[in-house]
Amino acid sequence: MASAVYAGSFDPITNGHVAIIQAGLVAFDRIVVAVLTNASKSPLFTVDERIEMIADAIADDPRVEVDRFDRGLLVDYARSKGISVILRGLRAVGDFEYELQMANMNRRLALGITTVFVPANDYFFVSSTLVKEAASLGGDVKGVVPELVERKLREKYGR
Ligand code: PNS
Repeated sequence: MASAVYAGSFDPITNGHVAIIQAGLVAFDRIVVAVLTNASKSPLFTVDERIEMIADAIADDPRVEVDRFDRGLLVDYARSKGISVILRGLRAVGDFEYELQMANMNRRLALGITTVFVPANDYFFVSSTLVKEAASLGGDVKGVVPELVERKLREKYGR
């Protein structure tokens, strides 16, 4: 069974992430979405909230597992799950340099692990950071994030 790990902060998950997972499922039978819990940036949502929003967005698709990833290297996490592919989305050219560095560093850290990139589609302009900024200032993020995320953002920002 071809599996991939899709790791990130997902603070919160956006429709861009959902599109990457869906595109990933064309190539992989199983995707483990791994939520990084020790992100240095102080997250808006707790890990449990982030996991709940991801699970809701993928609507119990049996091919997708949502997990938390507490510490250490992503390559070690992937190995612990018996997975040798890291799935990443590429939005704009600006992403490319960082993603290429990370992919090569991960390959250096664990030779048997490779990164597969999926191009972002209609949601290429969406990032969790921009979504939070827009929502915090009263912007409408409908259609850019899953419905539950939209509701939770409204709750967080009291709008
Ligand atoms: O999409 P994000 O939130 O920018 O994801 C970043 C993530 C989780 C993929 C990256 O920070 C990561 O892999 N962190 C785990 C620590 C690690 O393995 N660092 C070495 C990367 S070369």
